[in-house]
Amino acid sequence: MRVLVVGSGAREHALCLALAADPAVTALICAPGNAGTASVAEHRPLNATDPVAVAALATEVAADLVVIGPEAPLVAGAADAVRAAGIACFGPSAQAARLEGSKAFAKDVMAAAGVPTGRARVCGSAAEVEAALAEFGPPYVVKDDGLAAGKGVVVTDDPRLAAEHAAACGRVLVEEYLDGPEVSLFCVTDGVSVLPLLPAQDFKRIGDGDTGPNTGGMGAYAPLDWLPPGTVEQVVREVARPTVDELRRRGTPFTGLLYVGLAMTSTGPRVIEFNARFGDPETQVVLALLDSPLAGLLHAAATGTLAGHPPLRWHPGAAVTVVVAAANYPGSPRLDDPISGGDQPGVIHAGTRRDADGVLRSAGGRVLSATAVGATLAEAREAAYRLVAGIELAGSQHRSDIAAPGRLPAGFSADA
Ligand code: AMP
Ligand code: GLY
Repeated sequence: MRVLVVGSGAREHALCLALAADPAVTALICAPGNAGTASVAEHRPLNATDPVAVAALATEVAADLVVIGPEAPLVAGAADAVRAAGIACFGPSAQAARLEGSKAFAKDVMAAAGVPTGRARVCGSAAEVEAALAEFGPPYVVKDDGLAAGKGVVVTDDPRLAAEHAAACGRVLVEEYLDGPEVSLFCVTDGVSVLPLLPAQDFKRIGDGDTGPNTGGMGAYAPLDWLPPGTVEQVVREVARPTVDELRRRGTPFTGLLYVGLAMTSTGPRVIEFNARFGDPETQVVLALLDSPLAGLLHAAATGTLAGHPPLRWHPGAAVTVVVAAANYPGSPRLDDPISGGDQPGVIHAGTRRDADGVLRSAGGRVLSATAVGATLAEAREAAYRLVAGIELAGSQHRSDIAAPGRLPAGFSADA
């Protein structure tokens, strides 16, 4: 199978590593890729948000399967264009990707499908925002309606900051605050069948102890031993399946990866967000534990044959990833600094490039994702932080409490 992976982040590097390990993959192409994907895949230049260019490249490289990593190409219609060219594609249509592209659309689908989530008001004016903030009370949750790379959300007790964020965004959702530990559950779907992967947890804030602004994600671990038994099945039953069914009923079936972001509240799991693609950095830990061949799984989803896919196999133990970010991230990051230690096995690349002289340099906000597996979560964590200690990047930042015992949900129970 010839596989084309579209994107250039840590998620795409992790996807490429897992695809390269699948004996069914005879050729692996990544476009545009980063310095990490270059070691496992052939690179092609690509403007990933140009659906015509994505489909043309898929045809040119004779791809049997195209895997679209990031949300922006999906929302732009890259999967539609690839499928129109007669090539199997892992990733939803532009219509179905609105589940991520518009938070208001996602809420509408959830309401129609009876999916548990927080109450929300779509607001287009300062007066509407003020009324919604008063209705829900603190902590205030204000979300940009459109794509914002994980940075469009402000959660604050300060009504002034909440109103300022709303004014800066334009159309926003003001939402009820959902209290409880967060869980990311990736569900592979062909539009009918739903196959969940291992649950993972992401650390969204920039600072230790969950302080500072939200980021795209600063680290993750899997699996979640504290999750009550049956939670994954419950989320598939109450969230993923009804959502997939509702989109199919609307004539816009969702094929690809439905990322369910949940809060485990005292009244059960409730959806915080949907994404239409693999999450980053959770993908790094989930795929590190996946033992089943990835290309076969994604191809089954892309071709409507997921019902016949064998049950997934997982490596025992746990995986941890720690993101190393550039100075000033999540603000506008400092770029072009030389990196050493970036080529250690387990170091997954996000914003990196290699100069003609062979020097690895930073080229984005999140730069590397140090990923390790271990027999226990503690061992995986130690190994991930050993990798981080071997990385040098001037001014870089990372959290020191990813998957730390004190940062895991304590005494959590389903019927709390
Ligand atoms: P989102 O982009 O919707 O995932 O939001 C980013 C982060 O903001 C989430 O991972 C949560 O930590 C936080 N957040 C978003 N919505 C809510 C909510 N309704 N209640 C509590 N926290 C939230
Ligand atoms: N880790 C959060 C995301 O991928 O959106």
